[in-house]
Amino acid sequence: MPSLAVTLGPLRAKNPVFSASGTFGYGEEMEPFLNPGVYGGIIGKSISIKPRGGNPTPRVVETASGMLNSIGLQNPGFDAFLRDYLPRMRGYGTLLVVNLVGDTVDEYVEMARRLEEVEGGEAVDALELNISCPNCPQGGMEFGIDPKATRLLVERVRAASRKPILAKLTPNVTDIVSIARAAEDGGADVLTLTNTFVGMAIDWRKRQAILPARTGGLSGPAIKPLSLRLVWQVARGCNIPVMGIGGIMNADDVMDFLVAGARAVQIGTVQFVRPRAVLEILEDLHRFLEEEGLDSIEQVVGTIK
Ligand code: SIN
Repeated sequence: MPSLAVTLGPLRAKNPVFSASGTFGYGEEMEPFLNPGVYGGIIGKSISIKPRGGNPTPRVVETASGMLNSIGLQNPGFDAFLRDYLPRMRGYGTLLVVNLVGDTVDEYVEMARRLEEVEGGEAVDALELNISCPNCPQGGMEFGIDPKATRLLVERVRAASRKPILAKLTPNVTDIVSIARAAEDGGADVLTLTNTFVGMAIDWRKRQAILPARTGGLSGPAIKPLSLRLVWQVARGCNIPVMGIGGIMNADDVMDFLVAGARAVQIGTVQFVRPRAVLEILEDLHRFLEEEGLDSIEQVVGTIK
């Protein structure tokens, strides 16, 4: 059987399909549907130092071929995460990535430092820095739209943690390669792209935006061509591995991202439609490799002509 295993800098994943932050809770929401251990890795909803209640409802709107969300980074806070969620996530038997978000650099650093103290630093496999949330009035994207801020943040977290660092980038910038290079220069091990695209839905009869926050982040198949282009550009412009994310619905989409240069992917919105999508995707990836006569999925990475 061909191998689906991939290396992502210092990480070795049993397959290239990770569950994207914010679409999976901390795993427990998926347990009725599948064993979360089937993914190459799981990435929990962003954790902040203090609990956050999130934005007013409604927080999601379905759009043509996509979904807008404005959750506002609702999460139980760092202490509750360590106590109530992390132990269960560790039992899934796959790579465990903790997604961190902060209002200040010091908040990211504090969480990264404290994770080093849990189980001798072995409680998690990697950190994903959310520098790309489009939905928070106090910021969220601010670290990801300026190369200097990106580099400084990654450098500070790097100094506080021995864990592999994934920098999750926003597409809502003019030149994503400059941000990606700044994250690389700061010491990131992997670049994750992209987070959602800022968008809007209006109920014209009410003359109102549907989301109380007015704007939200667009995900789903509508953004796949946009994210794919950015992944292709960043994979060519940087020297660290890229993880692709954006509207992946099936194994063909995964292959497109790999051919564009991603070494792995994250699936998100598809899980709201078909929570067991990863199982179909993994089966189809095996079949594609057999059809192509390939031994390893890594042979596909960056093969675009
Ligand atoms: C949210 O919680 O509003 C979305 C998080 C994100 O896109 O990073």
